[in-house]
Amino acid sequence: MEIIKDAKELKKIRKNLKGSVGFVPTMGALHDGHLSLIKRAREENDFVIVSIFVNPTQFLEGEDLDKYPRKEQADIEICKRAGVDILFMPTINSIYFKDELKILAPQIRGYILEGAKRPGHFDGVLQIVMKLFNITTPNRAYFGKKDAQQLALITQMVHDYFLDVEIIPCEIVRDENGLALSSRNAYLSKEEKKRALSLSQALKLGANMVAKGILNVKAIKEAMEKELLKSVDKLDYVAIVNRAFEEIEQVEIGNTIILVAAYVGTTRLIDNIWI
Ligand code: PAF
Repeated sequence: MEIIKDAKELKKIRKNLKGSVGFVPTMGALHDGHLSLIKRAREENDFVIVSIFVNPTQFLEGEDLDKYPRKEQADIEICKRAGVDILFMPTINSIYFKDELKILAPQIRGYILEGAKRPGHFDGVLQIVMKLFNITTPNRAYFGKKDAQQLALITQMVHDYFLDVEIIPCEIVRDENGLALSSRNAYLSKEEKKRALSLSQALKLGANMVAKGILNVKAIKEAMEKELLKSVDKLDYVAIVNRAFEEIEQVEIGNTIILVAAYVGTTRLIDNIWI
C-alpha cells in the first residue's frame, strides 16, 4: 500500500492506473462502518483509494475539530489489512489554497436538518469531496447511508456538476446492540452509550408503526419524540422526508427516510432508517 500526502503526486499516480478505481473518503478513526465501504470498493474495483483527512472547512466554530479522534497508525494498519492500494492523507497545504473558490450547498436542501443545525457544514463537505473526486477521479465512490443528507447532497453535486463518478450508497453498520457505528461514539461513556441506543430504538418504533399501517408523519414523529426524550439530553430533530429530502405528510413506502439527531451528554449523534 502506498501512502501519498501530496495531492498533485496522487493525481499523477492516478493517471497511470489502468482499471477501475473505487474511492472511499473518510476522516479517519476507522471503524467497521468504514471497513464495510472499503470491502465493497475492493470487491467492485481493480484499485481502491482511501482518503483520511479531518476536513476543517466542514466544522463550525466551536465544534469538535480539535478533539476529533485521530488514529493515524491504527488507520494505516486497517487499510493495509483491507487491501487498500493507495492511502491518501493530504497535508492541508497541498489541498487548500489562499482565497480559493467555494462550492456552496443548495439553498434549501443544504440548509434543513443537519444544515439548519450546522449552517455551512455542507459547503465544507461538498468543497472537499469535489477536490477529492478531482484528484482521485474514481469510477465509483462509496458513502454510508448514516450521513443520509450528505449522501443526497453529494449525489446532487455529481448530477449538477456533471461529474463522472457513480455514487454507491452503503448500509449503516451497527454494533451488537443496534448503535450506529460512528467515530464520535468514542466520546460516549458507558452510561451514555446505553442511552444512545434510544436513537436506533426510536427509529425501530417508527418503522414498526409504518409496518402496522400508520403512515401519518405527524403521529410517527410524536411517538418517536416522546420515546427519545426519555433518554437523550437534547433532541435536535426527528424528521421524516422523502429520499429527495422534501417534506411529506404521509410515509411513502420505498421513498422515505426517518432521521434523528440528538445529544447524549455533550456528544451529538445522528441515525436514520430508510423505509
Ligand atoms: O463522511 C465523512 O467522513 C466526511 O464528511 C467526508 C465525506 C470524508 C468529507 O470530509
